[in-house]
Amino acid sequence: MTTALITGGLGFIGSYIAKDLLDNKIVDEVVCLDHFATYVDVTNSGYQDYRHKRFLGYEDNIIVERGDAKFYGVTHNIINKYRPKLIFHLASLPLAKIDNLNVQEAFESSVTSTSNIIEICSDIKNYNLERFIYVSSSMVYGNFQEEMVTEDSPCNPIEIYGTAKLAGEITTKGLCGFHNISWTIVRPSAVFGPTDMNNRVSQLIVDKALNNETIEIYGKDEKLDFTYVKNLSLGFVKVATNKKGVNEIFNITNGKAHTILQFVEEVKKYIPEVNYTIKDRDLSRPKRGTLSNAKILDLINYKQLFTFEDGIKEYVNYKLNEKKH
Ligand SMILES: NC(=O)c1ccc[n+]([C@@H]2O[C@H](COP(=O)([O-])OP(=O)(O)OC[C@H]3O[C@@H](n4cnc5c(N)ncnc54)[C@H](O)[C@@H]3O)[C@@H](O)[C@H]2O)c1
Repeated sequence: MTTALITGGLGFIGSYIAKDLLDNKIVDEVVCLDHFATYVDVTNSGYQDYRHKRFLGYEDNIIVERGDAKFYGVTHNIINKYRPKLIFHLASLPLAKIDNLNVQEAFESSVTSTSNIIEICSDIKNYNLERFIYVSSSMVYGNFQEEMVTEDSPCNPIEIYGTAKLAGEITTKGLCGFHNISWTIVRPSAVFGPTDMNNRVSQLIVDKALNNETIEIYGKDEKLDFTYVKNLSLGFVKVATNKKGVNEIFNITNGKAHTILQFVEEVKKYIPEVNYTIKDRDLSRPKRGTLSNAKILDLINYKQLFTFEDGIKEYVNYKLNEKKH
């Protein structure tokens, strides 16, 4: 029996990686270590919990274990019990605006839990982890100095989330190097798709469009490298299982930034009655653009499944279908 462990596996991105690992027959079962957190106000009348839908049809091969990845004892028990061949470490505060208010929690999830997991993997006797995969973020780059960044561009985060993520990258490289564990770091950006429930900009646009509410766009020229979740999850699986992914950092994104306004215009094709207002950009957030994905396309046997337009089409249709039922 081969196993992969995903910390934060019950989450939006983790759940897609779990399904792709099974679909691509990389492992027989996936264990998700998750402490069942929510990051938006659940008393808000529009709140929808999608977690019960994330593993439909995959229940026999996915095990959900409740626990906080920052506790050495909890994580030690899980790793020792299942001895996964791959560990994807996604458990962390996932939203910049929350991290900026919860500094200790941000560092505990990005740094303490990262160092604990790596220590545990070296402490357990006769256990050989094939790869530790750490999820970082486009926020590590800070303000983009050029229209497009590559993995070699300087990292100068300007807020807590990006700083904690970068500290987690350094922890991954340093500790894995010390313990001779193979690692891969992935930097995603502005991920969107079915079952996201963290009120990110893409979700808010579609929800507001469906509810006939006015969409607020912060920054007329504000650009993000919106990435469809299924492109990202397949990329994770590919870099984690390809030898050329060992000890490398990858941007896994759409590879072309779009303005928030372009995202809205695309949604409008399916929900014509969309209306919006443009407000000033949020200066606390770094100015971003395209994250080049040339490295993953060159080195790894990976092709994107969805264009930006196709991803939005599938996402909006999912939400429209839901509304009908
Ligand atoms: N969604 C994006 O656009 C995006 C972009 C870049 C990076 N990321 C990173 O990807 C990861 C997953 O994000 P997501 O969008 O799927 O968010 P999500 O909120 O859907 O998933 C995060 C999951 O991690 C769990 N978790 C958090 N801290 C934990 C802990 N200490 N112990 C156990 N479980 C814990 C939560 O309960 C949740 O189920 C995060 O690390 C996030 O920072 C996300």
